[in-house]
Amino acid sequence: MRVGQSGTGPGPHTPDGSAVELYEVTPAHGEDEFINAAIEPGSSILELGCGTGRITRPLLDFGHQVVAVDESPDMVARVVENAPGAEPICAGIGELHLDRRFDVVLMMSYLINVADDEERARLLRTCAHHIRPGGTVVLQQQVPGMLRGPAVLENEYRKLVISDVEERPGNIQAATLTHTIGGRTWSQHILTKNLSDEELVSQLTAAGLRLAKYLTPDKTWVSARPL
Ligand SMILES: C[S@@+](CC[C@H](N)C(=O)[O-])C[C@H]1O[C@@H](n2cnc3c(N)ncnc32)[C@H](O)[C@@H]1O
Repeated sequence: MRVGQSGTGPGPHTPDGSAVELYEVTPAHGEDEFINAAIEPGSSILELGCGTGRITRPLLDFGHQVVAVDESPDMVARVVENAPGAEPICAGIGELHLDRRFDVVLMMSYLINVADDEERARLLRTCAHHIRPGGTVVLQQQVPGMLRGPAVLENEYRKLVISDVEERPGNIQAATLTHTIGGRTWSQHILTKNLSDEELVSQLTAAGLRLAKYLTPDKTWVSARPL
């Protein structure tokens, strides 16, 4: 398990505490269409932290080619089943060093908010290493105010309880996210770090990237380009 991260509930969990069975039953809720609209048709995509293939599958259906990377063998096994046609790779993002460049590098699910600064630098360097000149890195980040608790968010499909929210020095937040879907419950303890606009710019630059634009008014989706 990654420091400060853990997960409980049915089935296996990844080192960051994500529950494989939770992501298996969680549908895409528009992220796939959003990403497709932000990139060129028929793009080659390197998807970092692909999980079960929840977004991989629709990206393939949109006509993109996807190399799908996750450090969890349990997640990669699901990608093979759920997204045949993707090229699965079981690896840590920070250690990935392929001899290929892609039109798009996608790193969503707030992976950029990992609390460990050195790990974040490694993740961003991997994004920079794999993007072709003129290509687009698409990132999804957590922004201040997103992780407020205690809170209960419920729709017809799932219930999410945010609890134990704790502000720590250095803009780090700890929290517990408890998801209930179809009578099954998973809890994930997370540790995240919000980046100010200036930190985002400087950390992208240090990795060899530049902020191209915020793709959404709330700044959660970001595009970056190689320097
Ligand atoms: C919250 S899940 C989301 C999966 C997928 N992006 C989605 O939206 O359904 C995060 C995934 O990223 C993977 N992950 C987190 N940090 C990673 C790292 N450093 N290297 C490889 N995979 C990582 C986890 O194993 C997990 O499968």
